[in-house]
Amino acid sequence: SGPLRTHAAARGKFIGFAAATSPLANESAYRTIAQTEFNQITAENAMKWDATESSDNNWNFSGADQIVNFAVANNQQVHGHTLVWHNQTPGWVQGLGATAMRSAMQDHISTLVGRYANNANVVSWDVVNEVFEENGSFRSSFWYNTLGQSFIADAFRYARAADPDARLCINDYNVEGINAKSTAMYNLVQSLRAQNVPVDCVGFQTHLATQYGFPSDLQQNLQRFAALGVQVRITEVDIRIVMPRTTAKDTTQATYYSNVVNACMAVPACAGVTVWGFTDKYSWVPDTFPSEGAALLYDANYQQKPAYTAVHNAL
Ligand code: XIL
Repeated sequence: SGPLRTHAAARGKFIGFAAATSPLANESAYRTIAQTEFNQITAENAMKWDATESSDNNWNFSGADQIVNFAVANNQQVHGHTLVWHNQTPGWVQGLGATAMRSAMQDHISTLVGRYANNANVVSWDVVNEVFEENGSFRSSFWYNTLGQSFIADAFRYARAADPDARLCINDYNVEGINAKSTAMYNLVQSLRAQNVPVDCVGFQTHLATQYGFPSDLQQNLQRFAALGVQVRITEVDIRIVMPRTTAKDTTQATYYSNVVNACMAVPACAGVTVWGFTDKYSWVPDTFPSEGAALLYDANYQQKPAYTAVHNAL
């Protein structure tokens, strides 16, 4: 009994969710769960570049502020997401030459991180997101193709300058198990830290699917990153199924959620687990993976699923 956040806090971890601004403003059922069950929030979209700086130096902090204000009112940590990414970044950035692109990145990071630098609830940022291909080479993004890999170190240095106290993370998907992509991430973090680039944390998105199996070396992988001296965190977990739901699929999903939470609990450097939404009413999964869905802890009517019980029991 008792909400998830009480159990997480008792173990020194956070349990968080990605917040969508519209139901957070408008739906009391959504808001009640958000404040009762979770002690950490990530903005699902509201802090991304397209939401915050849609044209050069034209800032809109309304969604970001809404989420930060909610977190302050409910004693929740905020993880800023995300500063430098190849998606949801306006065309005006993508078309810049190298010098102008680097300075746009610096200005974006300084302004956005700087806005919340003195806010005690905003404690961490995803500085760069999804910089690797599946084979472990650097992703062929407009960032990499214009600036080369130096954009990564520069982004971390700009973020550190904007908020010396924030925990600065690199975040990616399909890095939960030990594989070519996670090993590339491991080697990059080791090399950046050897050069005193301020990388404090590694985020494992953990967008899983029951039909593809569980990365059974998750805990071992978290532990090898922890041995580099960084914090690790589960940043975006959801566990989708091929629709429709069945009892068997719900059970497999619940087991996978237990496995994820247990892995984080077993690794002292793992700060906590963030679920990418909490209700199947609001989830990116059906829009992104045709015929898949039902990836979260509550159904579309805000009823707890076996996945909720599994997370609760693992905390
Ligand atoms: C997704 C959001 O959930 C969607 O609403 C949006 O349309 C696209 O982005 N990796 C990330 C997240 O780092 O920012 C993505 O969020 C999901 C994949």
